Amino acid sequence: MDVLSQLAAATLVPVVVLDDAQDADGLAQALVAGGLPVAEVTFRTAAAEESIRRMSARGDILVGAGTVLTPAQVDVAVAAGAQYIVSPGTSRAVVERAQEHGVTVLPGAVTASEIQAALELGLSTVKFFPAGTSGGAKAIAALAAPFGGVSFVPTGGVGPANLGEYLAIPAIKAVGGSWMVPAGLVRAHDFDGVTDLVREAVELARGLRP
Ligand code: 3PG
Repeated sequence: MDVLSQLAAATLVPVVVLDDAQDADGLAQALVAGGLPVAEVTFRTAAAEESIRRMSARGDILVGAGTVLTPAQVDVAVAAGAQYIVSPGTSRAVVERAQEHGVTVLPGAVTASEIQAALELGLSTVKFFPAGTSGGAKAIAALAAPFGGVSFVPTGGVGPANLGEYLAIPAIKAVGGSWMVPAGLVRAHDFDGVTDLVREAVELARGLRP
């Protein structure tokens, strides 16, 4: 299965911020145990590269790199084992470097112009970020009308309360968020707590999009 199909099958993408790569294994285990073997590890912390390396080495979880802002970070992420790249905005440089590596890339796009820029780069799936403050599910539904072939992965401000609004839209391939992997639980090494939240999220998503 290709990466986009795997993300669609997962429906939910945990957006992970790790302060310490020592926690990467425990977190990956918690995600797998909760039934969601996928993680977008963000380059918001210095631990991202090593965390991606450790998670990828397990072989039981799809690992993407998030918050990738530069082509150099694409190189680092891919070398560490990231199977896909996520960028908050539509950066031609980031997209082209990912394409050179042959890895899937999801640039952020929330306007018609940004979506057209992504299309011109040969992409048909974009991250819709920050979803909550960019018009949410209604904005995606409006953009899906002219852009019939485009799929969206909204992230930012999505949680159990509004997940249903997003999953009701067929153009939404998957939904990302940090609600099932709270930094506080990870820092406290409460990986069972993470597994419980992940399991609840998976059950909720399954009910909303059987
Ligand atoms: C992201 O990087 O995709 C978002 O910051 C995650 O947003 P959330 O914390 O609101 O889920």
